[in-house]
Amino acid sequence: MCTTKPFFDPLHLTELSFDALMEWLLSRSTTELVSLAQQVCAETYGNKVFLRGLIEFSNECLCDCLYCGIRKSNHKAQRYTLSDEEILETVKKGLSFGFKTFVLQSGEYRIELPERMARLLYQLRHITGEDVAFTLSCGVYPREVYREWKKAGANRYLLRFETSDESLFARLCPGKTLSKRLQALDDLKAEGYAVGSGFMVGLPGETVAIRLRNVLLCRELQLEMVGIGPFLPHPDTPLASESPLPIEETIRITALLRLLLPWANIPATTAAGSLHPQGREMMLAAGANVLMPNITPTEKKHHYLLYPNKICLDEDGWECLSCLSLRVASVGKEISFERGESILRDFSSPSFYFEKKPISH
Ligand code: SAM
Ligand code: FES
Repeated sequence: MCTTKPFFDPLHLTELSFDALMEWLLSRSTTELVSLAQQVCAETYGNKVFLRGLIEFSNECLCDCLYCGIRKSNHKAQRYTLSDEEILETVKKGLSFGFKTFVLQSGEYRIELPERMARLLYQLRHITGEDVAFTLSCGVYPREVYREWKKAGANRYLLRFETSDESLFARLCPGKTLSKRLQALDDLKAEGYAVGSGFMVGLPGETVAIRLRNVLLCRELQLEMVGIGPFLPHPDTPLASESPLPIEETIRITALLRLLLPWANIPATTAAGSLHPQGREMMLAAGANVLMPNITPTEKKHHYLLYPNKICLDEDGWECLSCLSLRVASVGKEISFERGESILRDFSSPSFYFEKKPISH
């Protein structure tokens, strides 16, 4: 059992009202926020950075989110789906490099996916045994599908809520609702998954208050993993003419997440590295503790373009490993091949340290 004190809240931020928290945030410099988050991250995860092998197995999608490069209306996107053999081979190779966690990500609402994924997970489990964690990130499905996937061997699920603002969500994701996405997160938790969610920073129409509410929603949901990254306008989407916020905004929000969710696994995302050459290092320095090298076969990587200028597309994911070790070392951290559960898992009773009462809005 982990002996670290899991709920480290030296600033008593969780006792502040929404307005007081906003005032506190706006009056802190980025350097101050980063330094506080670093202390909390060191208390919880030391200097470890957990690796997850990301396999983007299909860019087919029936959704039409305005921000997303693989939305169904983007006819320029060249569609692909990896075969079971390609996925199995990629996982086997990952195992030989020491990976203990794989993330299988795709577009959403693929009618044939439920059965295929269950079959694939049984096959994957057969070759990995119980030591390895599988994370799925395939969108919203009925609860029974999540149950089947869990039975077949999935452990974790990533489903970003994208924005905590209902009307902004409805505008950006036609035909979808925030409440359905939040229901899916509840379903996943009820089915026993380690649940991850998150949001984009700087979506068009997002205010500073929405951004803070995004962070607070992550806390209220008691997420074990939080994925955030800057919104980056894709040229073949309706949001092509929008501008991203400077990387600093993502860094400040990363630091605040670490302060309010000390237990969470927080990846330093590719989107941050695509906006700024040191974006991932800056996120790691601000409390992120996970990296997800993209181990999708190189010839397919180019077609999973959620946003432009995505980094590491020409490199083989395996080549990325040495580059990542150097980047991680540059911020005084060290790559770890452990399975890397959230420390939330290490305590039998979450209420031991998590005050259920949400921060009042
Ligand atoms: N279909 C799965 C789902 O709905 O959860 C996988 C999601 S999508 C392929 C992965 C994430 O990329 C999204 O949840 C979104 O936050 C992010 N994303 C999409 N378009 C983006 C953009 N233009 N800039 C930055 N991030 C983007
Ligand atoms: Fe489907 Fe982006 S619109 S994954």
